[in-house]
Amino acid sequence: MELQSVNDEGESPGGQKAGKKRKHEQEEASPIKKLVTDHSEKVASHYNSLQEVGLAARSQSRIFFMRNFNNWLKSVLIGEILEHVRGSGSRRVSVLDLGCGKGGDLLKWRRGGISHLVCADIAAVSVEQCQSRYDDMTRKSHINEKIFSAQFITADCTKEVLSEKLDDPELMFDICSCQFVYHYSFESEQKADMMLRNACERLKPGGFFIGTTPDAFELVKRLEASDSLSFGNEVFKVSFQSKGFYPLFGCQYHFTLEDVVNVPEFLVYFPLFEHMAKRYNMRLVLKQRFSEFFEEKVKKEHHRSLMMKMMALEPFPTEDGGRQATESTGEYCYAKEQCGRAGVKLPVGTLSRSEWEAASIYLVFVFQKMS
Ligand SMILES: C[S@@+](CC[C@H](N)C(=O)[O-])C[C@H]1O[C@@H](n2cnc3c(N)ncnc32)[C@H](O)[C@@H]1O
Repeated sequence: MELQSVNDEGESPGGQKAGKKRKHEQEEASPIKKLVTDHSEKVASHYNSLQEVGLAARSQSRIFFMRNFNNWLKSVLIGEILEHVRGSGSRRVSVLDLGCGKGGDLLKWRRGGISHLVCADIAAVSVEQCQSRYDDMTRKSHINEKIFSAQFITADCTKEVLSEKLDDPELMFDICSCQFVYHYSFESEQKADMMLRNACERLKPGGFFIGTTPDAFELVKRLEASDSLSFGNEVFKVSFQSKGFYPLFGCQYHFTLEDVVNVPEFLVYFPLFEHMAKRYNMRLVLKQRFSEFFEEKVKKEHHRSLMMKMMALEPFPTEDGGRQATESTGEYCYAKEQCGRAGVKLPVGTLSRSEWEAASIYLVFVFQKMS
């Protein structure tokens, strides 16, 4: 069975409203509900236990180029949204980084010249590392460069109200950025709604809620095509507990990505996400698979040169007889085909097939707050 589609009223083809159906399910399931695991702690302890590795070790990773590719994609998204915000007249730009992790996007905010950043994450160790990265950045910055001010909050953003924790209780944001995070909230309607509330309630009119999350349709399509309960390759694996029935909330799968991720995640049924966002006066302005986003943005010269700078694609063939990221057969078929074409300058930029299969699970979204 395919995921149920939900119309503008949050109604499934069976005629039940998502909210009503949920309430009914809860009433029926309440004695059992107490036994159900809350996955937030698992997620927090997984991210807390991840070691911070240096550039040298990172460049040896099997998914070095895919990580750079994801970073490039976030840089382009963040850069374009900042342009919009500036274009509409905002001088002092305030940003909420929801699920900031170890601060992987701090440099992007620095380059974007923002004025204030609030970083929030459930994993206390990550928040500490994020803060010390920020402290380092300010300490080492040029005397003439004014680095943005920042606040760091450790909180389960699916349960706690972030606005109550802000140093400045009047603070309003131009942008909330939620990169590779929102899917952890789809464990239940309450959690998904609280994360959404945190993302949107303090946005200025015209402000943006941007992010990246796995595309549930793509995950289900690949699962249905598999003859087992999982699919993947040498870099990632997605395992479900069953197939054929996909509840709107709490549809759990286990995601493993090389040495980076090994956690339970939840399908985000996008039409429902979009419907829920309307409660916060949010209008969807962009939803694009990574592949579509890449194809569109790569046409622009400045995005391509950033791509080179960030090493977001792997050169094929490698220069000076070096090794590709993998020796497995069939991983560079596409690049080989390109190399054979007349007029193609070598090396070409590519991702190995396994990395591309992992990256192409995701989508980019942009919501805007209506005034
Ligand atoms: C894949 S990492 C992404 C980190 C960062 N946004 C980035 O793009 O580099 C997912 C992050 O979501 C955080 N997270 C998961 N559940 C959360 C929750 N309930 N509240 C706050 N943060 C959460 C994790 O701790 C982790 O840092």
